[in-house]
Amino acid sequence: MRTTIREIAAMKRRGKRIAMITAYDYTSARIVEAAGMDIILVGDSLGQVVLGYDSTVPVTMEDMLHHIKAVVRGSDKTHIVGDLPFMSYQASESEAVRNAGRLLKEGGAQSVKLEGGKHVAKSMRRIVRAGIPVMGHIGLTPQAVNQLGGYRIQGKTTKAAVELIEDAKAVEDAGAYSVVLEGVPSQLARIVTQRLTIPTIGIGAGVHCDGQVQVFHDMMGLYSDFTPKHARKYANLSADMRGAVADYIQDVRAQSFPSEDESFTLAPNVLAELTGDANIAARSER
Ligand code: KIV
Repeated sequence: MRTTIREIAAMKRRGKRIAMITAYDYTSARIVEAAGMDIILVGDSLGQVVLGYDSTVPVTMEDMLHHIKAVVRGSDKTHIVGDLPFMSYQASESEAVRNAGRLLKEGGAQSVKLEGGKHVAKSMRRIVRAGIPVMGHIGLTPQAVNQLGGYRIQGKTTKAAVELIEDAKAVEDAGAYSVVLEGVPSQLARIVTQRLTIPTIGIGAGVHCDGQVQVFHDMMGLYSDFTPKHARKYANLSADMRGAVADYIQDVRAQSFPSEDESFTLAPNVLAELTGDANIAARSER
């Protein structure tokens, strides 16, 4: 049985911090589950770190389903959150419910995440009523990058902070089981965390949230185009992998790869029959 939303809610009550990370494929899902992760988010950030787009805007439902299925195959205990991509829930409440349902029914996720506060609360409520657990996402909402005018920290003025607190309450009232706070000053994230009963999960929102989420590629030092200020590199895999590939190229050129141990051999009688030379096998072994 995978971690349930009841268990996630209980972690806030017990004061146990929630660890969440993104993953987009079978292999990384296996790695993060083996390390003991609480929640895997198959985030639409895959648009940038896996598919090479310059934002999350072009990501489709088909992209999300493809990657969610791979992550589900690579895990069996971890709660999987599927991100609803841009324009899969904004146009109408019924489209939002239908697409949220697809992430569970076809993808195999246990809950869905969508960006926005008050203005998406109605759709959130409808999704929850359909039996689909919802994680909210407020503050810096990357799908709205064109509206926000860039990836900017949100809630910095009194007015903007009050609006963010209202958005958080709207998400909780709509029945969400948790909410991501992205790109929010840590004092504001603390106020929101204290005022909500559902867990807050921060990214660029300071240490006072009930949990933290990071993008796998940022944490592993795999994505070198841009590293956000909030990301901590726990590994430098991009440099390690480049070094490994360079070593391989060198070994191929020097014919030190593959070795005898990495090769397969014909039985001596087959070799003799093939070549018509009864002594060839014996000679080649000398
Ligand atoms: O898509 C994503 O990876 C996200 C996280 C940044 C929260 O939404």
